[in-house]
Amino acid sequence: MPKIFFITTAIDYTNSPPHIGHAYEKVLADVIARYHRLKGEKVFFLTGVDQHGQKVQQSAAKAGTPPSEFVKEITQKFIDLWKKLGVRYDEWAETTSDRHKKVVQGILQRLFDAGQIYKDKQAGYYSVRQEQFLTDKERGPDGQFGPEWGEVEFREEENYYFKLSQHKEWLLRYLEERKDAVIPDFRQTELRNAVGRLSGDLCISRPKSRLDWGIELPFDKNFVTYVWFDALTNYISFAGYDPGLSTLKSQPSTFRDKWPALQIIGKDILVPAHGIYWLIMLHAIGFLDEQMPQLLVHGWWNLGGAKMSKSAGNIIDPFVLVDKYGADALRYYLMSDIATGKDADFSEERLIATCDSDLANVIGNLVNRTLNMVIRYRDGRITHVKDKDLAPGGPGSVELQKLVEVEAPRSLEVYTQEMTSFQITKAAGMAVNLGLYGNGIVEVTAPWRLAKDSSQDRRLDSVLYHLVELVRVIAILISPLLPRAAHGIFDQLNWRMDLSGKDERFALVDAEWGRLPHGHVVGKPVPLFPRIEAD
Ligand code: MSP
Repeated sequence: MPKIFFITTAIDYTNSPPHIGHAYEKVLADVIARYHRLKGEKVFFLTGVDQHGQKVQQSAAKAGTPPSEFVKEITQKFIDLWKKLGVRYDEWAETTSDRHKKVVQGILQRLFDAGQIYKDKQAGYYSVRQEQFLTDKERGPDGQFGPEWGEVEFREEENYYFKLSQHKEWLLRYLEERKDAVIPDFRQTELRNAVGRLSGDLCISRPKSRLDWGIELPFDKNFVTYVWFDALTNYISFAGYDPGLSTLKSQPSTFRDKWPALQIIGKDILVPAHGIYWLIMLHAIGFLDEQMPQLLVHGWWNLGGAKMSKSAGNIIDPFVLVDKYGADALRYYLMSDIATGKDADFSEERLIATCDSDLANVIGNLVNRTLNMVIRYRDGRITHVKDKDLAPGGPGSVELQKLVEVEAPRSLEVYTQEMTSFQITKAAGMAVNLGLYGNGIVEVTAPWRLAKDSSQDRRLDSVLYHLVELVRVIAILISPLLPRAAHGIFDQLNWRMDLSGKDERFALVDAEWGRLPHGHVVGKPVPLFPRIEAD
């Protein structure tokens, strides 16, 4: 069985409906997943929702609904949004499912039996928002716990602890040896520094007297599992992991073929959750260094430089934007106005400007005018002209040659490099550049003039052939970002109609120049990206 490209995202809390930050992460993962499918790889994309924990219990109580009902409603909102946005995943994780519970409890029991979990008493300050005890390290310069911790209260509790600190040296060595454990580099440095400061173990239980909305500990029914221990396990529980088998080698092939995953998370949940807890959990249950997941850490969308938050009332609702501008526009904006790993400022004006300039003015315009000209001058039929049949030095001959020999292959090469290093903005830029180049060719060759001169017949055929080819290649390159639009272009090109609507329609190998056969008849142009703002 060939290796499967296994990609996951953070699972989203169901204490409130999805916002633009959630949408960004899922579209980013979807684009990366689609790119790997485009390369012909088998992909397993896992995402879902984090339904347990105190936050959810509190929000449900506020709403006057039982948590089980409350999470159902919010979960549905996430599912609806992914559908609207064309996010195509292969498995859906809901942490209240039995399948997941069994794996969490199996792992807890194994760690307990191995002496990795012990019971202890703790007294101290507890952040309700972050669901963790705080130490003096979390105090600000004024000696207070900052607003990021929300409501902080004093608690005294008996709980179960996982021997996190026992694995500190291992984690330091692992991060030293594997330079790309975390992308981008500066996040790996941040993690390494945090691990250096690590002291103490991880409290992995909550007494039911305080919180009962969680997975019961298999060895003590008075406690539920700490939400992060529960949630992090989703990455393996929904991929077929069997907690009864201690080595990866002994795991079922359904799991082995996928693991390790590329995990996409936001910058706020690298330290300590994914970078420390999760890597140590995996190590403690027998995963070897080469079986550790790679963490791709993205930045945050802010608003006017400030963090978006429900309490500040500056949340951007992705549903409203999709209804207003369409899924393609929102996907394109979210992928083109942020550099993966960095933060960005959300702006509706920029969404409009970017979509109008790149999609309507460049790509949409090229598709539209190309097909219009092929229909007007050639009844839709394209002719593949041999170079030797063309008089040398005609209008656009230099540009066309450069397109075929330099621009197209070079764009493809850069596109592939950028996609591989998750720089979606730059990869998308290659498709837009090709579109610009194509529009430039239309201007230079002025097909409307060639059409009036019968001695330029072959030249016009050649120009039209190359433009249609270019449109076909651009559709392939944008297909991970804009699957609907890419299908629209292929439909209008009347190309690979047997696979219309199916993702298999697009393949990166087909981006090679000259695959459109002589005599192919294109369809009618239909505007794909209407301008949002009037000229
Ligand atoms: N439930 C946990 C993750 C558990 S993973 C085992 C969680 N949920 S969350 O709903 O708060 O966040 C989900 C993801 O959305 C995180 O990766 C987070 O970084 C991301 N984002 C939340 N707000 C964001 C922005 N404003 N911008 C970009 N991504 C943001 O954390």
